[in-house]
Amino acid sequence: MCGIVGYIGYEQATPLLLQGLEKLEYRGYDSAGVAVYDGSRLEVVKAKGRLQVLSDLLDGGKKLTGTVGIGHTRWATHGRPSDINSHPQVSDSGKFAVVHNGIIENYMQLKEHLIRRGVKFVSETDTEVVAQLFEYYYKGDMVETLIKVISKVEGSYALGVISQEHPDQLLAVRKDSPLIVGLGKGENYIASDIPAILSKTRDIYRLEDKEIAVLTTGGVTVYNTDYEIVQKTPFHVDWDISAAEKGGYEHFMAKEIMEQPKAVRDTISPRIRNGEIVLDDIKLTRQQIQDISKIFIVACGSAYHVGVVAKYVLEKLTRKPVEVDLASEFRYRSPILDDNTLVVVISQSGETADTLAALREAKKLGARVLSIVNVVGSSIASDSDDVLYTWAGPEIAVATTKAYSTQLCVVYLIALYMARQLGTLSDEAYANYVDELQQLPDKIEQVLQNKAGIQYFASQYFNCHDIFFIGRNYDYAMSLEGSLKLKEISYIHSEAYAAGELKHGPISLIEEGTLVVALATQDQLFDKMVSNIKEVKARGAVVLGVTTEKHKEIEQVADYEFYIPNASDIMLPSLAVVPLQLFSYYIASMKGCDIDKPRNLAKSVTVE
Ligand code: M6R
Repeated sequence: MCGIVGYIGYEQATPLLLQGLEKLEYRGYDSAGVAVYDGSRLEVVKAKGRLQVLSDLLDGGKKLTGTVGIGHTRWATHGRPSDINSHPQVSDSGKFAVVHNGIIENYMQLKEHLIRRGVKFVSETDTEVVAQLFEYYYKGDMVETLIKVISKVEGSYALGVISQEHPDQLLAVRKDSPLIVGLGKGENYIASDIPAILSKTRDIYRLEDKEIAVLTTGGVTVYNTDYEIVQKTPFHVDWDISAAEKGGYEHFMAKEIMEQPKAVRDTISPRIRNGEIVLDDIKLTRQQIQDISKIFIVACGSAYHVGVVAKYVLEKLTRKPVEVDLASEFRYRSPILDDNTLVVVISQSGETADTLAALREAKKLGARVLSIVNVVGSSIASDSDDVLYTWAGPEIAVATTKAYSTQLCVVYLIALYMARQLGTLSDEAYANYVDELQQLPDKIEQVLQNKAGIQYFASQYFNCHDIFFIGRNYDYAMSLEGSLKLKEISYIHSEAYAAGELKHGPISLIEEGTLVVALATQDQLFDKMVSNIKEVKARGAVVLGVTTEKHKEIEQVADYEFYIPNASDIMLPSLAVVPLQLFSYYIASMKGCDIDKPRNLAKSVTVE
C-alpha cells in the first residue's frame, strides 16, 4: 500500500525522499509526491504514475531545495490516481502539508463541516481533510493541533506533517497503520517501513497508536495525547540493506524463491535442541495447551493458505478441532470463542488490516492469540499474547514465497510442540518428524536445482488463458496457493479445486487443451488423484503431474511430470509449493509482467 518517508536535517531533503520512496516501491502505488520547505514556503510536486515520473520532474531532486520534507507513494483508495489526488495534500493556504497511509472513515462528515465554514477542497481524497483540519485548528502549537486533529478523525492513519509556520519540526503519528521514526545525528527520519531509511540509520522508534513524534534536527520527542512525554527505547535493526536488494537477480521474487532453504533453516534450527522442539519465545503452558478446546487459524491471502495446511497438520498431530478462517470473514461473523480457544494468526507483514482487526476481535472475546509473523515489532506481533517469528528476512516481492515457506515451518513446530505436550504422538513418530523437519532445507534445495524442468514447462504454456490446479487435502491447500500465485503475478485466470469436487461442476470448463496442474504428492490419495487426472484427460486437458519420486507411475497418465523428494505427508507442502512458485514466476517473466509489483496489488494491505 502507500509509502511514507520524511526527513529533517542538514542535507537536501528531496533526493533523500526520492531514494526512500524508491525503497518502498515494492509496496505498490500509482502516484507519488513530495513537499519540501524551501526556506520561505512549502513547495509541493506530485505526479501520477511511477516514481521515475516524479524524479524526472524534480531532476532527480535537484530542483527542489530545502532540508525538511515529506514524500509519499499513493495506492488509490479515495479518488482515482491523479496528480491532484496524490499526496502530500495541503491545506487551503498551502501552509500545512500532510502525507497519509490508511483511511479516514468519517472524512465525509468532516469535509462537509469544513466546507460549511468556507474551506475549499481540491481533491477527492480523505487525506485532504487532515490537512484542512490542521489549518482549521492551528493556534500556534503543532503538537496541540495534531492532538486535536486525531481526536476528530476516525479510521486508520500513519501521518507525516510539515508546516511553513514551524519549518523546524516534522510531526508523525499513527493508528492501525505502521510508522517508524529513524534516529540520526543532526537529522531524523520517518518512514512507513524500514528499507526506506535503512541506508541512513539502524536505530528506530516504533510508534504505538496515537503516539506523536516531533522530529527536529536536535532530536526526537514523543508525546501521548495528553501532551506528556513518552519515554521510548530505540530498536536496532540488525539485518543488512543487501537483504532488501536484488543481489544480482532480475526480480526480488526470484531471489526470495532461491533464499528459501536458508530462510527455512534460520526459522527451524534455533528451535530444535537435542532432538527436542524448544519454543522459548512463547509462554503457553502445558496446562493451557491441554485446556485448549478449539483452535482457530485466521489470516488473509497466502497466509490463509498456510492456515489451510495448518488445519490438516494440527488436527492430525494434536487431535484438537481446528477451524481456518479468512480474517475479513472472521471479524464480522461473531465467532464462538472463549478463554479455552487458541487463535493462531498468520501474517508476513504483521500489519494486514483485516488480520489485525480479527486478532483484536478474538482477544475481545477472551481467546488467547498466538501469532506467526515475519516483521519484528509489527502491530500484530505487539498485540498478540505469544509471537513466533519467521526468520525469513525482509520480503520485498508482492507475491510471497519465502515468508509462506517459513510460516509452514512454524506451523510444523507448533503442531509437534503441542503434540509432545499432549502426548498425542509416540516418541518414535515425534523423533521422525523432527528429523524430517531438519532435512527440509536440503530437500527444498534439491527441488530448486530442478527448476529447469518447470521453466521448460512454463515456456510451453505461458500464453494460455486458463489454468486449473487440483489436489486433495494438503494438495488442495497447495492448489489454492499455486493458483493465487499464478493469477497475482501473471494475470492468467486460474482456479483451484479440491480434485473430488471437479465432477460437481467445474469439469464442465475442461476442454481440448485446458491446462491442469494436478498435485498428487500424498501416498494415501495418489490413486484417487490418478482417477481425477484420467477424468480431465478424457475431456482433452493437458496435465502437469506434481508428485514424489516414488510415484513414477504418474508418467502413465500425465503429459508432464515434476518430482519432489519423498517426505512425510505433513511436510510435503513445503516441497510441493516450490515448483508452483517457480511456475508462476517463469510464466510471468515470459509474459513480461511487472513481477515484483503486480498491478492493483500492494505488499502490505493496511486498509480494509
Ligand atoms: O502480510 P500478510 O501475510 O498478512 O499478507 C496477507 C496477504 O495479503 C498476502 O499473503 C497476499 O495474498 C500475497 N500477495 C500473496 O502472494
